Amino acid sequence: MIDPLPRYDAVAITLHWAVALLILAAFGLGLTVDDFPSGWKSAVINLHALIGLAVLVLSLARLAWRLGHRPPPYQPPLAPLAARLAHLGHLLLYVLMIAVPAIGVPTLLFRGLGLDFGLFQLASPLARNREIYRPLTEIHELGSYLMIALAAGHAAVAVFHQMVARDQLMRRMLP
Ligand code: HEM
Ligand code: HEM
Repeated sequence: MIDPLPRYDAVAITLHWAVALLILAAFGLGLTVDDFPSGWKSAVINLHALIGLAVLVLSLARLAWRLGHRPPPYQPPLAPLAARLAHLGHLLLYVLMIAVPAIGVPTLLFRGLGLDFGLFQLASPLARNREIYRPLTEIHELGSYLMIALAAGHAAVAVFHQMVARDQLMRRMLP
């Protein structure tokens, strides 16, 4: 049977949910770094950084894909103000999905920490500098709170459409 509902394509849907899960994993690890036994700390930071880098690469891929593929139209159409707000919210999400992990990179390197990819390691080319990494960590942390708050609001709006408005909006992004 032909699906009459216009939906995001498979690439956009796969990247949307993969990035959402990876962001939650990176956020959870970032918040709990200090709760692990001290001997685990560098491995946890490394895992956090690797997951975060995956978010960065996949978000850039998503944005590139998005620029070449228009999203499906809303059925029924959204009110003009709601459509503008949705567009603005999505734009801000894209900015934060890229900026938060991008700021994570100097946050890591200015600690003098490198990355262990398993097969090979990259040492930090920078000397440990507390004066720089402390404020960078603050910005990285605040940015991640903003991103999670926005994503939570975004998810709440999607659930509202599904449960209360009972329109087809959410189905456009479901696998
Ligand atoms: C979506 C991606 C990411 C999210 C949501 C995220 C979130 C966080 C959060 C919430 C913290 C805790 C901050 C604090 O309590 O001081 C943190 C710390 C940190 N993040 Fe990220 N991060 C991401 C990506 C990255 C990336 C890509 C890197 C490096 C390549 C990175 C490096 C670090 C470092 C070095 C810390 C400090 C760890 C410590 O307290 O010792 N992050 N991050
Ligand atoms: C960290 C978590 C998440 C991030 C960063 C995120 C990000 C985004 C972005 C940037 C878009 C815009 C897509 C585009 O037009 O290019 C989008 C669309 C969408 N997301 Fe999420 N999302 C997250 C979690 C969720 C969750 C949990 C749900 C459902 C409960 C959800 C439901 C949707 C739906 C239905 C759309 C299509 C909305 C529309 O076209 O107006 N997202 N998401």
